[in-house]
Amino acid sequence: MVFMSSADPGWLDAVYRNEPLLTQVTGGIPTSSSTQPGLMLRMLEAMDVADGMTVLEIGTGTGYNAALLSARLGDSGVTTVDIDPDLTGPARERLGGLGLSPTVVTGDGALGHAPRAPYDRVIATCAVRSIPPVWLEQLAPGGLVLATITTGLHGSALALVGSDGHGRILPERASFMPMRSHADPGFHALKAQAGPAAGERATELVPPLDETAGFVLGLALPQVVSFGLPDGEVPGLYLAHRTDGSWAHALHHGRVSQGGPQPLWDQLEQAYADWASAGVPLPQEFALTIDGIVQQVHTSDGALSYPLPGAAW
Ligand SMILES: C[S@@+](CC[C@H](N)C(=O)[O-])C[C@H]1O[C@@H](n2cnc3c(N)ncnc32)[C@H](O)[C@@H]1O
Repeated sequence: MVFMSSADPGWLDAVYRNEPLLTQVTGGIPTSSSTQPGLMLRMLEAMDVADGMTVLEIGTGTGYNAALLSARLGDSGVTTVDIDPDLTGPARERLGGLGLSPTVVTGDGALGHAPRAPYDRVIATCAVRSIPPVWLEQLAPGGLVLATITTGLHGSALALVGSDGHGRILPERASFMPMRSHADPGFHALKAQAGPAAGERATELVPPLDETAGFVLGLALPQVVSFGLPDGEVPGLYLAHRTDGSWAHALHHGRVSQGGPQPLWDQLEQAYADWASAGVPLPQEFALTIDGIVQQVHTSDGALSYPLPGAAW
């Protein structure tokens, strides 16, 4: 990892390169980044803003995206929220330095920002396991929420949802660090609660799972988190249930062992078989329907339908 400051030669090249830039690490874990500029642009296009609209951004980070929004809509149209005061303070100053003054709020974006609602658009630049219902409640009629849905199996996809609760998954690929309350537990915490081994067998489903499989199969197994194995462990793919101690460890040569109360690898194989018999639809062939707290990602023919988990499960 290379650390740079604005005094370093090459700083502007790095800022304008079409790559995400890690901008904050807390306790060894990445906690903020400047989004890949090309992705920011595709998201802004997907939001389809027009003059006079108001936007709520969740995840101020550097303030880069808020600057683009303010340049397009004017300061009064833009509200941006980040949970971390170490980020919002500098972002506000940076924006001020450009002559921009959108409303920058320190707070939990999972709650939206009621004082300035309703919004024509809500855009999340951190990933969520499901759409916080208040984001829809704070939309103006006809408004849109754009957010990345992430699964525990490292799949993610952009969802665009209207104020009526009808939405779709977009073909654009997007990956964001999770909203802090939606982050998965770590490998060591889940390994520590693993139940006793129940056996080992052959499997035809050999890791790694690609991002599309990680999205669809992750929807089917919302309680499960996957990990590549850290140094010192036998390489392969490790699955762990968030709470009950179930686990599976698949090796690259087609053997899997599993344990705890639920056979997670059997469940993954079943989810894969269901996906295959539905024709292996891509993420963008799924719709998202939100009715109160019930959120369902489904194919148009209903052959596959998965409830999204609330943040707490
Ligand atoms: C990928 S960065 C955002 C990039 C930013 N839009 C930019 O232009 O630089 C994700 C941000 O989400 C923020 N975040 C994480 N959880 C949050 C939460 N619950 N509420 C608000 N912001 C949150 C992080 O602090 C981080 O700055």
